[in-house]
Amino acid sequence: MIRREESWDGFWAKLLRIDMFEGQWEAYRKVADSRAEWLEKTFGLQKDRPVLSLACGEGGIELALARRGYSVIGIDRSQVMISFARDMAIEENLNATFVHADLTTDSQLPGNNGTVLCFDTLGLLNDDDEYRIIQRAVGSLHRDGVLLVDNPLREGLATSHRWQRINDGYFLSESFLDKESGTHVLNPIFISQDGEEVLLRDPYDRKRESHTGVLRYVYNPSELVNLVKTTQLPAREVKHQRPGYYMVVGSRRLEE
Ligand SMILES: C[S@@+](CC[C@H](N)C(=O)[O-])C[C@H]1O[C@@H](n2cnc3c(N)ncnc32)[C@H](O)[C@@H]1O
Repeated sequence: MIRREESWDGFWAKLLRIDMFEGQWEAYRKVADSRAEWLEKTFGLQKDRPVLSLACGEGGIELALARRGYSVIGIDRSQVMISFARDMAIEENLNATFVHADLTTDSQLPGNNGTVLCFDTLGLLNDDDEYRIIQRAVGSLHRDGVLLVDNPLREGLATSHRWQRINDGYFLSESFLDKESGTHVLNPIFISQDGEEVLLRDPYDRKRESHTGVLRYVYNPSELVNLVKTTQLPAREVKHQRPGYYMVVGSRRLEE
């Protein structure tokens, strides 16, 4: 049997975040538009200041916010996803810029943002990188700005096995939560038409020993609130519109 390994950035990002939605983009867009409307109403986002999204992926929410009149900048490490988001922004003539960059390098973030988002990403990287990303995110906020970070709830992560026919091959995955360590383990495999097996190996957390699959620490809401509070920004948990997720909001407005 032939076996090869691919990182997230190209092969896996394309398979799981772009090819997987083939034929479903209309539904995808409806969900993103509804989430953007909820974010706007719930957190009183400021339209006159930019929205910065860290680890924006293929840009679903970011494009939806741009459709509502926000000026948006998204940053992600995956070139495939950034190119996809850029193409969408051009196609729809939106005020949205997508930047290909690794957030674990200390490059400067654009400042004066009314809103900074970091959705469904914390827990993938190592503690030091995540601490620094949050510090820099808060540093890039306007004084009256709002930081929004969302993450899955441990209770929502049931053991799952799935398989699906895709790109003339099969996608298989198993995932489970290791309750003791709070780590969500995901092992995806793609089997091509010729029987070649492709595994995921990615250095999300450069301090962890190299491994296949994805290991993600699943923060409890109070841990994420405390991480944001290390920046001196007041923070609290808010019920999410997305099932199985929670939101942490950080803002000086919470002091009032
Ligand atoms: C689970 S996805 C979430 C994407 C999007 N924010 C969402 O909510 O759908 C995690 C994202 O983090 C990005 N990512 C991981 N490590 C990164 C890094 N060091 N710098 C920038 N982006 C990174 C990945 O490319 C991926 O798009």
